[in-house]
Amino acid sequence: MTEQELDKARYPMEWNASYEAKGTQWRGYFDLASYSDILFMDGLVLELGSGDGNTASQLVKTADNLVCLDIAPSSFKVLPMSELEVHKTIGDARLMPFRAEKFSSIICRHVLTHAIPGDSEAILKEIARVLSPEGVALFEVFTPKDMRWGKGVEIMPDTFLRGDKLICRFYLEEEIIDMLKDSGFYIVKSELHAREVLYDGSIYVRESLVIIASFS
Ligand SMILES: C[S@@+](CC[C@H](N)C(=O)[O-])C[C@H]1O[C@@H](n2cnc3c(N)ncnc32)[C@H](O)[C@@H]1O
Repeated sequence: MTEQELDKARYPMEWNASYEAKGTQWRGYFDLASYSDILFMDGLVLELGSGDGNTASQLVKTADNLVCLDIAPSSFKVLPMSELEVHKTIGDARLMPFRAEKFSSIICRHVLTHAIPGDSEAILKEIARVLSPEGVALFEVFTPKDMRWGKGVEIMPDTFLRGDKLICRFYLEEEIIDMLKDSGFYIVKSELHAREVLYDGSIYVRESLVIIASFS
């Protein structure tokens, strides 16, 4: 499939088929505690692209008022999400069903990772709209050094359409920081998370950026 053939309005819906076929998918542990002094978990917190609830199941420990939004209805039917007592909303991060300045914190792990150029910017614009002026947002994206880079057809720069029809986009640090700044954010913290993993006797690199951003 080429860029021209991609249905740019509907491609994130491939996630629905993905959860229907695979069920629970995310197992990694995200060390939220190391950001507890920066994130405001006592207000209304949004997890964008909450998926099967891997991150949400940690967020509920400190966030009393957690809203989980995902475009894939099937994601809310798989564990642990199906058992979490949180507000669940089916919606598109490119045009969120929320009023402006509603959330004190927004967690956005690997949603920009699965958006094509243009949509990533639309999602950032929406996050900037629904985050309160004093709010804080956390982003995680893969870098081009990650082992997943290059899998599938490169339909746009550093953006691959994989065999499972999901998009995977990789960001250089300066690129994502510039995008955040263009959306009005100030960068509080940017961290590189890199580690080596062993698969079938070979060593691969997993590399992501975690960025904390606010408006001041
Ligand atoms: C890699 S998963 C990450 C799941 C979760 N954030 C976590 O850390 O466990 C990406 C999620 O983003 C969702 N997603 C992708 N594009 C979206 C969009 N435009 N609007 C809302 N959700 C979207 C997918 O359905 C999927 O559940």
